[in-house]
Amino acid sequence: MRLLVTGGAGFIGSNFVHLTARERPEVEITVLDALTYAGDETSLAPVADSVRLVQGDITDGKLVDRLVSTSDLVVHFAAESHNDNSLANPWPFVQTNLIGTYTLLEAVRKHGVRYHHISTDEVYGDLELDDPAKFTDATPYNPSSPYSATKAGSDLLVRAWARSFGIAATISNCSNNYGPYQHVEKFIPRQITNLIDGIRPRLYGAGENVRDWIHVEDHNTAVWTIIDKGRLGETYLIGADGEKNNLEVVQALLEVFGRPADDFDHVTDRAGHDLRYAIDSQKLRTELGWEPRFTDFKAGLVDTVDWYKANEAWWRPAKAATEAKYSTAGH
Ligand code: NAD
Ligand code: DAU
Repeated sequence: MRLLVTGGAGFIGSNFVHLTARERPEVEITVLDALTYAGDETSLAPVADSVRLVQGDITDGKLVDRLVSTSDLVVHFAAESHNDNSLANPWPFVQTNLIGTYTLLEAVRKHGVRYHHISTDEVYGDLELDDPAKFTDATPYNPSSPYSATKAGSDLLVRAWARSFGIAATISNCSNNYGPYQHVEKFIPRQITNLIDGIRPRLYGAGENVRDWIHVEDHNTAVWTIIDKGRLGETYLIGADGEKNNLEVVQALLEVFGRPADDFDHVTDRAGHDLRYAIDSQKLRTELGWEPRFTDFKAGLVDTVDWYKANEAWWRPAKAATEAKYSTAGH
């Protein structure tokens, strides 16, 4: 099988490529990645012999057409992915998440290639903190930020191309991932690398907001399960029952570092900050038989802390500029 992975030099995409190279050696992997600030060729170094990396933009119609025409399957991870950045400058989000997805869909339609679309639970908006409900694939779309609005728009493009043009597509909407190779702008790696540097973790607002954490490896095994067994045209929500509020996560990290539970700072809250995400993944579990393997969040955090301690050369170059950007935004 010839597999094209967009965004394969980013956090989740590079972990997907590692998993695929390890467990499916028969798959020929091509990565298409623009290597933006969030993409890093060295994330693919451990599997460099099994992967062809093409540096290019998913909005480049000619390049996308050529790569899709020689593929059997496209898994589309590439995106502008950070909410805070989308509040500072939405344009790259519109460009990559909407125009980029459109460009891929047109190539997939022309060449009749199977397509899996990676999306997020944020398309459903947020839930109240005291609401027992969880998101399902029947929850109406209600995105809050420019990031989640462009992801929602890209999902709707996929649905339209499946219904109107019959492309062979599936969509997955996953909750918050953590694990190795995540950019230091994101919550968990930011706090881990702060703690390594002796800086107090930074909590937006009161720290009450809830995210439904899943290990990146579990996200990626779910994606392969959907590709192998999912029904075309369907949407599957991916989650591992990992709800935690941000204060709990910071305090778990402080414990790992042997620091006092109140050794953090509250900083300016995010504009429009979604309160709570929670995934009901029953459809994926009962229909396709997927189960998460990394269900011990504390153990997963310890492994992730160990990874950042052992791989300072990977994250250090991005740390100072990321913190400078946060400081300008009051975070
Ligand atoms: P990331 O920011 O770490 O990686 C994105 C990758 O896409 C980078 O390698 C970047 O260089 C590449 N890219 C960006 N614009 C591009 C363009 N125009 N052309 C080609 N490549 C481009 O993101 P991530 O956290 O790995 O997220 C991957 C996907 O998973 C995204 O679609 C995101 O919406 C989705 N998702 C993320 C999470 C999460 O918790 N991080 C959860 C659910 C879904
Ligand atoms: O739910 C899936 C989404 O999860 C993905 O679609 C996004 O690509 C991914 O970035 C993530 O979005 P969040 O906005 O939830 O993730 P982030 O890591 O930016 O923040 C997680 C929570 O932590 C959120 O409530 C904001 C808060 N936060 C974040 C940072 C960077 C802090 O309290 N302090 C911080 O320093």
